[in-house]
Amino acid sequence: MNDKENKLNQHTPVLAMNSINKSFGGLRALIEADLELYSDEILAIVGDNGAGKSTLIKVLTGVYRADSGSIRINGELSDIPTRQQSIDAGIAAVYQNLGLVDTLPAPHNVFLGDEPIKKIMGIPFIDNKKMRKAAIEILRDRVGVEFPDIDEPTRNFSGGQRQAVAIARAVHSTDLKVLVMDEPTAALGPEETKNTLQLIKAVKERGTPIILISHNLDHVFQVADRVQVMRGGKNVGVVNVADTTQQAVLGMIVGSETSAVA
Ligand SMILES: Nc1ncnc2c1ncn2[C@@H]1O[C@H](COP(=O)(O)OP(=O)(O)OP(=O)(O)O)[C@@H](O)[C@H]1O
Ligand SMILES: [Mg+2]
Repeated sequence: MNDKENKLNQHTPVLAMNSINKSFGGLRALIEADLELYSDEILAIVGDNGAGKSTLIKVLTGVYRADSGSIRINGELSDIPTRQQSIDAGIAAVYQNLGLVDTLPAPHNVFLGDEPIKKIMGIPFIDNKKMRKAAIEILRDRVGVEFPDIDEPTRNFSGGQRQAVAIARAVHSTDLKVLVMDEPTAALGPEETKNTLQLIKAVKERGTPIILISHNLDHVFQVADRVQVMRGGKNVGVVNVADTTQQAVLGMIVGSETSAVA
């Protein structure tokens, strides 16, 4: 066992999904699917179209309700969560469309729907000063970016900067335990892809473990610590990036290899 495996195996996973089953009518989208995420890692999930990646994540975020299975967060057994229970458990997801309000500046987007409030003569107002300061701190300390123009509407930001704002929104709750990113680089050009991959690493280095769904093995091999391969609704293997090759992982994706360890 190498040092990295040792480190990864030493502690309880932040998140463990076990024997998750989910059918849509007669279609078995997930069959006894598992997932383990440790506190100091980026876990990539790869697999062909329809392999079950998004369904597994949607069970985690409470968008879909699993037919059976269990989820443990920090070793404690949770119910298969509803949407709200998942949010309360500190699980946040950033989807491809980011969901920003383009006409608003970054601080408003980071705190959208959850703005700090101050009362003046008993009347509640958004505390803009507090919100701006908190947004700057989150962007710097949890996401690793500093914007010279934080008060600009986010429509003037680059794709990478917008991604940072969306991540900051996801991590703004202090007890965030898991960040999920489903295909974050799918719609980006080369420069913005590079920035986004750096951003993902920076978020991990600042203490948030990440589940990254991606079809791009180049990107996966640049940022992930481990790769979970799904096929036909099953988890067909998990490998350390350091111990494998893209070709071997591709073999697992299409089912021509049983082991991806080089
Ligand atoms: N809401 C739904 N209703 C019916 N079938 C669904 C639903 N969501 C997913 N499925 C089916 O479940 C299977 C797994 O789909 P899922 O979206 O999890 O795949 P994926 O691995 O994320 O694929 P992709 O790489 O294309 O995003 C597919 O056969 C899909 O058609
Ligand atoms: Mg998907």
